[in-house]
Amino acid sequence: MTEESSRDLENLLTEERRFPPSAEFAAQANVQADVYARASADRLGFWAEQARNLVSWSTPFTEVLDWSKAPVARWFGDGRLNACYNAVDRHVEAGLGDRVAIHFEGEPGDTRTLTYAELQREVSRAANALVALGVRTGDRVAIYLPMIPEAVIAMLACARIGAPHSVVFGGFSAEALNSRIVDAQATTVITADGGYRRGAPSALKPAVDEALTKEAGSIVQKVLVVRRTGQDVAWQDGRDVWWHEALEAASDQHAPVVVEAEHPLFILYTSGTTGKPKGIFHTTGGYLTQAAFTHLNVFDLKPETDVYWCTADVGWITGHSYIVYGPLVNGATQVIYEGTPDTPHRGRWWEIIAKYGVSILYTAPTAIRTCMKWGEEYPAAHDLSSLRILGSVGESINPEAWIWYRRVIGGDRTPIVDTWWQTETGAMMISPLPGVTTAKPGSAQKALPGIGADVVDDEAHSVPDGHGGYLVLTEPWPSMLRGIWGDPQRFQDTYWSRFPGLYFAGDGAKKDDDGDIWLLGRVDDVMNVSGHRLSTTEIESALVSHPSVAEAAVVGAADEMTGQAVVAFVILRATATAEGKSAEDVSTELRAHVAKEIGPIAKPRTILVVAELPKTRSGKIMRRLLRDVAENRAVGDATTLADSSVMDLIAAGLRAPSDG
Ligand code: WTA
Repeated sequence: MTEESSRDLENLLTEERRFPPSAEFAAQANVQADVYARASADRLGFWAEQARNLVSWSTPFTEVLDWSKAPVARWFGDGRLNACYNAVDRHVEAGLGDRVAIHFEGEPGDTRTLTYAELQREVSRAANALVALGVRTGDRVAIYLPMIPEAVIAMLACARIGAPHSVVFGGFSAEALNSRIVDAQATTVITADGGYRRGAPSALKPAVDEALTKEAGSIVQKVLVVRRTGQDVAWQDGRDVWWHEALEAASDQHAPVVVEAEHPLFILYTSGTTGKPKGIFHTTGGYLTQAAFTHLNVFDLKPETDVYWCTADVGWITGHSYIVYGPLVNGATQVIYEGTPDTPHRGRWWEIIAKYGVSILYTAPTAIRTCMKWGEEYPAAHDLSSLRILGSVGESINPEAWIWYRRVIGGDRTPIVDTWWQTETGAMMISPLPGVTTAKPGSAQKALPGIGADVVDDEAHSVPDGHGGYLVLTEPWPSMLRGIWGDPQRFQDTYWSRFPGLYFAGDGAKKDDDGDIWLLGRVDDVMNVSGHRLSTTEIESALVSHPSVAEAAVVGAADEMTGQAVVAFVILRATATAEGKSAEDVSTELRAHVAKEIGPIAKPRTILVVAELPKTRSGKIMRRLLRDVAENRAVGDATTLADSSVMDLIAAGLRAPSDG
């Protein structure tokens, strides 16, 4: 952890900014302060109770946790259920068929409302269509869609037939889609012609076509294509099928396939510390239990009256747990918005909140900071008085943004929940509880009831209050990942080897004098850009795959808006140098190359061409020193460098361009 971040923390702690819950809110909250004590007195009993109360089982479980094959857990192992039935059918059976499940707002302003009864008919049709295309229980289905209702319907249809879905974020490239299809051996892809982004149709199908010219083409049998934008698409007869035609031909009755609690529900790829993304996989019973429990209580959801909106994309874990499974299992009404916050104007989000009477908003610090920059006049022009809870996820929220969020968006009345969790944890792990916790801007605060978290030093000893170290999870939890798809060894090595018996989250953290947890960012080679996880190594591999690049080193540098930004240092090959391209041309070309290899989100903000990279005698790149350069700081201790003049060389080479 850097000295600066601990200094920032000291300042915050002495400022004593505290927001206790209002008595009125506390009186009506879903949970009371005793929930922590109840959960710790009988942790497994607590989770069993949540699983029974929040989820419907076809066969009730009798086992709660089997940890005998650690680190692979079995939760509620002898129970049987279906995730889609839990998210949809049971609400219709309970007489809630007319409740709105989804208010969809397209970027161009088109809208669509789906009640739970309509959602049931749509997912049943989609499930029948998938079966007709040959998808069987256990087969993997890749989903590559914009934020339209079909994304939710497709995921639920897969869950309905027990076919694990692998959603690939629509912003990822054909190359990234190819490697994910190959890794999961997905035989079917569900995509769309395109979606609307920043005021224009943005094509998706061509990326699928391109991915299928690669190895993925020999695996994928069928491509279901949703018509969203009406753009022209290339068509391969026999392989490509229109979604609307397949659904029209299908019955709207389908019996959900009952699976075991540990049946895989989905795979979701996330960046790790190597070049190869990890297929994090989650199973059914425990995942649904914790997604539903946290959604219900961290947001203090009142399903009959609240209108919930999570601004994430289904391509990320937040979309899985807090757009699809958590809210729908709880029978919530939610808004789904397709586009960007500034299309067609910078007040779009606030307009949507006023239009639907959104009462719970869940978004990311980077979006909050962007809105802060745009100015208060945009939210001020809309009635935001329906909001009663605000959530934050993706990175630590800086206290300035926290206070702005509460004051300008929440009208100084809404609790804010700063939720720490990961793709791997499946659901929220550390967060305040509205109505219970006194909020401290910038702190995720406390492990949720039934969750064990701690901060430890290098020797795995719990640090005392007031000290920093590594964040670990000390007990298995229901929605934990069950592994990395096809790579049990990597699962063990990545999460369970650093501190034997403890799950190592990869984050640095500090406990304040009250024992509350403050997250301090990643301590590994994972970057966090606008709340999106990117791997330094993956971007380095993309850069060196370009013919002009001999070597590359990537670091995440602090960035006011995006949290971190990708900064790349590259050494060009002699042949490339000889071409005499300007630094600007090289940078443009390499940025485009990274976008093609991974996706536009991975494009470096800055590319610096250098003559040397700082390496230790054993050849390890010293990223710490490069981070100093990228953040315009005096370069730290460079004595372990093989060649100590390298940093002077880099600094001298950079002085000219960095003035501009
Ligand atoms: C970071 C996103 C501080 C953290 C749900 C974690 C956070 C990584 C917070 C997981 C938060 C997420 N405060 N840091 N409230 N939420 N992070 O897998 O570094 O995309 O390890 O899951 O984001 O990112 P992922």
